[in-house]
This record gives sequence, C-alpha cells and structure tokens, in this order.
Amino acid sequence: MLGETPPVRGDRDGPVPIGIKIGSTRTVIARPDESGIETHATLTCLAQYEDVLSGTTQVIYGEKAAYEYPERVEFMLRTGLPEDDDRAAATATFFEQIVDENDLPTNSVAVYAIPAINNETGLRNLTDVIERTAIGGRLIRGYPESLCGSIPAFGSELTAIGRVFISINMGSTNIGACAYRHGKQLSRFTTGSIAGNEVDRWIATNVEEETQGRVHIDGTTAREYKEEHGDFNDFRPFTDVIQQPGGGTHEFTIERSVMDALDRYVDDAVDAIANEFLPQLATDHTKVYKHVLNEPIALTGGMAAVPGLPETFERRLGEELQHKVNVIAPEDPETAAARGAFSLADQFIEKEWY
Ligand SMILES: Nc1ncnc2c1ncn2[C@@H]1O[C@H](COP(=O)(O)OP(=O)(O)OP(=O)(O)O)[C@@H](O)[C@H]1O
Ligand SMILES: [Mg+2]
Repeated sequence: MLGETPPVRGDRDGPVPIGIKIGSTRTVIARPDESGIETHATLTCLAQYEDVLSGTTQVIYGEKAAYEYPERVEFMLRTGLPEDDDRAAATATFFEQIVDENDLPTNSVAVYAIPAINNETGLRNLTDVIERTAIGGRLIRGYPESLCGSIPAFGSELTAIGRVFISINMGSTNIGACAYRHGKQLSRFTTGSIAGNEVDRWIATNVEEETQGRVHIDGTTAREYKEEHGDFNDFRPFTDVIQQPGGGTHEFTIERSVMDALDRYVDDAVDAIANEFLPQLATDHTKVYKHVLNEPIALTGGMAAVPGLPETFERRLGEELQHKVNVIAPEDPETAAARGAFSLADQFIEKEWY
C-alpha cells in the first residue's frame, strides 16, 4: 500500500484513467482499484517455441517467457524503443496481450510515459503501437518518463508540474537528466554508457573474477543478483549454486561483485551529472541553474530502487559539487512513472479535457 496514492476522480461510468510505462526491461500498467490505484509489472520480453503437437510456432511473453526459455528470450525493446518492423509487431502483440489480460477498457484516458531517447523511427514505431491498441478511446497522451516518475516523488498531487527542478532518470539502457520548468524540459542530457544493463555486465564479469573463473552467469542472473541483493545500507554476502558442466553442483558466495559494480555506477553517474549535465545547464540557463540546485533533485527510474542508492548519490554529488543537494526519489521507483502517468490521466478526466 502506497501512502502517496491519489484519490481516483471521475464518476463510475466515465472514462477510466490508465497510466502506462513501456520500458526496455519492464512494462508497468497503473489503473484504478477500490483503494485508489493498482499497478501491474511485466518483463518486456518474448520467446518463441514450436508446439510439439501442432508444429506451429507459439509466442509467450513476460515472466513466463524469461522463466521457461531463458536461453532464447528476446527483450524486444532492448534499446528502449521498437527499432524495426519486426520488433514493432512483437511489441504490438505483447501490448495487446497486456491489455487483454488486464481487461483494460476502451473507454479510457491513457497516458504513456515516453522514454527520453533521440530515435525518431523508434518513437514513431512506439506511437503506432500505442495508437493501435484498444485503450485510450477517449484520449491518448504521452509525457516524458522522467516527468511522470517525478510526479509521485513530489507527492500525491501534480505539484511536480508547477515546479522548476532537476530530474535524473536511471534506466536500463541509459541515464537521462534535464531540468523541468512547469513540465517542459530544459537542457536534456542522456548517455548510454551509464546504464542498469551495464551494471549487470559488470556484475557478471566481477562474479567470474570473484570465483576465480569457476562461475559464469548470464545477464538475467546478474540483474536478479543486483535487484535482490544490491543494498547500499545493508548488503549481505549471499550464496548460489550452479550445475557443473561435468555433473554435480558448485556452491559459491558473492561478497564484492554486486556492490563493486553498483559503487562504480554511482560514481560514474555523479561524474556525468556534475561534469557534463550541470555545466551544460549552467551555460544554457544560468538563472535556472542557480535556482534548481537549491531545489529537490528527483531521482527516478528502476536503478533508484536499490536501497540507499538515492542517499549515496546525494552525498557523493554534494561532495563533488561542494554544494549541499537534496535528492528525492519516489516510493517504489519501478512503478513510479506509470503511477505519475496515471495521475495525469486522472487529472484530464477531472478537468474533462478529453
Ligand atoms: N528493485 C530493484 N533493485 C535494483 N535494480 C532495479 C530494481 N528494479 C529495477 N531495477 C533496475 O532498474 C533498471 C530498469 O529501470 P527502468 O524500469 O527505469 O528502465 P527502463 O525504462 O526499462 O529503461 P530505459 O529507460 O533505459 O529504456 C534495470 O536495470 C533494473 O534491473
Ligand atoms: Mg526508462
């Protein structure tokens, strides 16, 4: 139960507000329930297999695909967007399935959290997918993912839209930063070299080193280690077991691999924000720059879910800038963008802007 849950407005027969975040790792839906808002997250992946009875090709999605076919599961939005026709078609089918499974109504106002990526074809493909689905029959709108994620960080109402503040989004494929001024982006900055997926690769390499070459893990396992064990406040060494190629099992303990990778990630993020993004903002918008450093900095995206990461980032960024900063993160960063999008959809319904 989230304390920041907004009340759901609108009458029962009116359109239903829906918030959607399509991410390269997970897709999240936020919709109303009796207590206010309910979220549902699915891995954005698919696997194909041949049905042994009919000989036809079957497609499965989400956790089931990742669990049953780990060796061939495909994350179709690897870069955050559907880049070609095949991926766009796969994304459309994936999305239709989610709409079906969740019984999402056509009589709805749908707000999407859009990834901040400079890729016109990808964005156009994503827009096509969105417009082809049955939902958002009354209105479809898209807002930047980091703005949507910042909405719950600032509280239950839409105060984020009225403010001037810096937002930093820590995703799977990139880190993005900008200042928001009444909902509009200033000095947008993104870099793909600092990314949650990259942390997973570092973890896999570290595990190999830490186990003297005995253990090789794939990206999914590395991500799970990070998500389950990464903790800046209270990391505890953990053990896991692998099958040996010649038979038998090998048990090993991980002490450093996960936190070394996360430490490096935070250092790289601090460096990019302090030495690339902020100087760019200071040049482009000097007055805004001076003002926003004294405002809360909203940290969004799934990587902000690592316990203690926002506080660690705040401390290290403050040291680097020699200026105290206040970093805030939404509760449950993984679903925050979908919940923020939901709050916007709800607002459109309340104002009858559809
Ligand atoms: N609880 C958690 N603990 C640690 N890491 C997490 C947690 N939840 C999500 N992550 C990580 O956050 C990243 C996903 O973040 P997010 O959902 O914002 O990305 P995305 O929108 O799919 O990516 P992008 O914007 O790059 O396309 C992944 O690297 C994921 O492993
Ligand atoms: Mg994202």
